[in-house]
Amino acid sequence: MQMRIGFFDSGLGGLTVLAESLRRLPAKDYLYMADTLHVPYGTKTKEDVRRYVLEAVETMVGQGIDALVVACNTATSIAINELREIYSMPIVGMEPAVKPAVEMNRATGKRVLVCATPLTLSMPKYYALVSRVDENGIVDSLPLPELVDYCERLVFDGEELAAYFRRKLEPFDLDRYGIIVLGCTHFIYYRDALRRVLPESIEIVDGNAGTVRRLAALLTRYGISENDGSGDVRLMCTGGDPAYIRKMGIALDRARTL
Ligand code: DGL
Repeated sequence: MQMRIGFFDSGLGGLTVLAESLRRLPAKDYLYMADTLHVPYGTKTKEDVRRYVLEAVETMVGQGIDALVVACNTATSIAINELREIYSMPIVGMEPAVKPAVEMNRATGKRVLVCATPLTLSMPKYYALVSRVDENGIVDSLPLPELVDYCERLVFDGEELAAYFRRKLEPFDLDRYGIIVLGCTHFIYYRDALRRVLPESIEIVDGNAGTVRRLAALLTRYGISENDGSGDVRLMCTGGDPAYIRKMGIALDRARTL
């Protein structure tokens, strides 16, 4: 059976990580699975999300994958440990890039704003991460669940979105911030839209490149070839709706231009 690298997300967000992997590892084949039946995860309970993730990954394993990227911060915070207990293949997870952001801002004394789903931001894994790296108390968090819905409707731009960002950012004195962390893969599509409403001095960071670097390092460590495919991408979703598969194709094309 031809083995592929599996990428998993609740919906379209993880395609931004897949796009990064296609740039970095163009000679692998890929299987991308979106849990369309249950997206969004970020506003559901951790028990439900745990079950959805385990079921979807089991389906992917049945299709033949030799490594797994959980291209979803929310699913990672709920299920990554259990996945690693169940499967012996290399598994890469994602977490908001708080550590690099805090390090980058140490010199300026500016604050860091972490945007993610409500579930990611409420999990012990996130608290543990922040308490480990944020010794000066400069990290604030902002849940943006509506952005997942915009993304799933392929709304990437426009006045409604700009107004949404302005409304969400209004309570923050942005001059005090140096970095915004995109801690949800669905949010990566909105770098440009955010850029337009943020002061120029604020940097926008995400964990996509770091995730693919870790994937490449793990492939090497497990002795898995980086060159046994041709960049072929197979798109799957729970429920198998052909209209959603088409949507995934559109989102992947967009992700490849980011
Ligand atoms: N893309 C996901 C993440 O990185 C979750 C979006 C959702 O389903 O709420 O957190």
